[in-house]
Amino acid sequence: MSQSASGQVDHILTESRLFPPPQKFVDQAAINSEEQYQQLYDAAANDPDAFWDAEAKQHLHWFEPYQQVCKWDAPHAQWFVGGKTNASYNCLDAHIAAGHGDRKALIWEGEPGDTVTLTYAELHEQVCKTANALKALGIGLGDVVSIYMPMTPELPIAMLACARIGAIHSVIFAGFSAESIADRNNDAGAKLVITANGLYRRGKVLPLKKTVDEALEKSPTVKHCLVLQRIADQDTPMVEGRDIWWHESVASASNDCPATPLDSETPLFVLYTSGSTGKPKGILHTTAGYNLWAKRTFQWVFDHRDDDVYWCTADCGWITGHSYLVYGPLAAGATCLMYEGAPNHPAEDRFWDLVEKYKVTVMYTAPTAIRAFIKWGDQHVDAHDLSSLRLLGTVGEGINPEAWMWYHKKIGNEQCPIVDTWWQTETGGIMMSPLPGVTATKPGSCTKPLPGVVPAVIDEMGDEITGHNGGMLCIAQPWPGMLRGIWGDQQRYVEQYWSKVPGKYLTGDNARRDEDGYYWIMGRIDDVINVSGHRLSTIEVESALVSHPAVCEAAVVGRPHDLKGQGIAAFVTVRDQEPNEELRAELRQHVRKEIGALAQPDDIRFTSALPKTRSGKIMRRLLRDIAAGNEAAGDTSTLEDYSVLVKLREQDES
Ligand code: WTA
Repeated sequence: MSQSASGQVDHILTESRLFPPPQKFVDQAAINSEEQYQQLYDAAANDPDAFWDAEAKQHLHWFEPYQQVCKWDAPHAQWFVGGKTNASYNCLDAHIAAGHGDRKALIWEGEPGDTVTLTYAELHEQVCKTANALKALGIGLGDVVSIYMPMTPELPIAMLACARIGAIHSVIFAGFSAESIADRNNDAGAKLVITANGLYRRGKVLPLKKTVDEALEKSPTVKHCLVLQRIADQDTPMVEGRDIWWHESVASASNDCPATPLDSETPLFVLYTSGSTGKPKGILHTTAGYNLWAKRTFQWVFDHRDDDVYWCTADCGWITGHSYLVYGPLAAGATCLMYEGAPNHPAEDRFWDLVEKYKVTVMYTAPTAIRAFIKWGDQHVDAHDLSSLRLLGTVGEGINPEAWMWYHKKIGNEQCPIVDTWWQTETGGIMMSPLPGVTATKPGSCTKPLPGVVPAVIDEMGDEITGHNGGMLCIAQPWPGMLRGIWGDQQRYVEQYWSKVPGKYLTGDNARRDEDGYYWIMGRIDDVINVSGHRLSTIEVESALVSHPAVCEAAVVGRPHDLKGQGIAAFVTVRDQEPNEELRAELRQHVRKEIGALAQPDDIRFTSALPKTRSGKIMRRLLRDIAAGNEAAGDTSTLEDYSVLVKLREQDES
């Protein structure tokens, strides 16, 4: 089991506490009985076409009706075939048409404390103007727009502006390097990059535009760069003919821009994520199915009510920000809080200050953040009134029961259900989660599948496990939010997700189902590590290390890390030079430059050789054990050179 080194698996296997939803919550919840859940679940499983037909008709706006609910030509799905809709319309115009234009859509707070509130009508206007500004730059149906921005309101505005005119956004997390931006621009053939002249992070300014300038030297397809002036007095060189200020082009643009009726399967966005091979893959999501999935899963899982103030703390650079800060909640007409900066700026109570100030009712965050809050101390929580909260959620990695209990007691005051949501960039939206008014939760389990999700746990022989043993988690039926492919590489899509277990979607996660039918996610089966809830492939980091002239060979593994969940340990052999502290620092910096800060190894160990099997494969299992500080366990008989292992271990002890 790939995560056994972290100890998490052992913990969750012995977890038996059960937390039924508080009666007060049940009484007001939209779905509040086991029968209701079962009915929905069965309806979706038994007659998916009828179920999704009714859902789509009720929950999306159709400019033209579809002819077929799902065309499944395994492993290629099309949903709502022949219909025409628009995600930006569903998120904005639909609410205005229903008389809710005055409802708050976005309540935003910047790191320095500046604020912006936009109603649905105001957000609509900004999106229309921005869409017209994009058109003026020659952007239209099918063009790819890279977005590399701070968490300002203009980021969701830019996404929705693309969606409005059928352009495909590719949001790149603003912590990535110039190299990573250029790779993504080139892979997607981006025509435009939208960025800002700076980003506030813990009071400092990071010069985003400078990074983009560097990336654009290697991005021949990009014709223009639209620049938001986030920082007032920042010297920002602009390249004539290429760079345009947001405040100049958007301010002067018309606010009349009707949403383009788009075919259901029109690509909505590409989002790059790490897989088990080195090159990040552009996960492709399309318009109708994705939008419906994001909206309905949001409503089910967060028991959404019109008077909620909902806060998803994720950055739009990740799928959680796409589905649960933009497309899900806005399609549902929710009021969303959005915060720009770090959770510990100016102090470690910033999140709780925000909850109190805006009377947040539903909060969705990540286990890595929860672990940081625990470390920072309860006094930061105690200083604030959190009584507005009624529901809590987590995503990104498994939550260890201790952190779950702290979240439950300290933040939820034992009054708020916790929804531990399991899903992936590829799945578009939440796949397994408690329904907060129904499911009795077990700390560490994502509990049960949502309607439309048919999981299967598969053993090494490819057979379904009906008992309680762990195995590969697969999904047996298509669902509306599923990825439609990997940008530019359909072959890789088929191989990666549909080949190992024929006919089923391979998630890459291990899971087991307990006697109550609850699922427990037990880490990855491939070479993907999860650092602070963010996916990185070990090979990606290895390639970055090996691209440094001093490095001969590198092996990267995950190791347990108190705050990040998994940290990165790198074992490196160097060419003719004595490794020293300077080189170690240089290599960390190099990885930062190649990929971004979150890929920096926590631990770099120099070694004269890497432990390999006789057939030349790096023995990652042993390295994982060494990195975790455990005795290298298991069979070492195929080790080519046992002395390598001894040396590595000695280094550990020194
Ligand atoms: C892991 C994030 C356990 C899992 C939405 C998955 C989780 C990967 C959970 C996807 C959870 C996400 N419990 N593990 N509640 N949520 N994961 O694509 O390994 O960034 O495959 O999507 O994160 O990460 P991604």
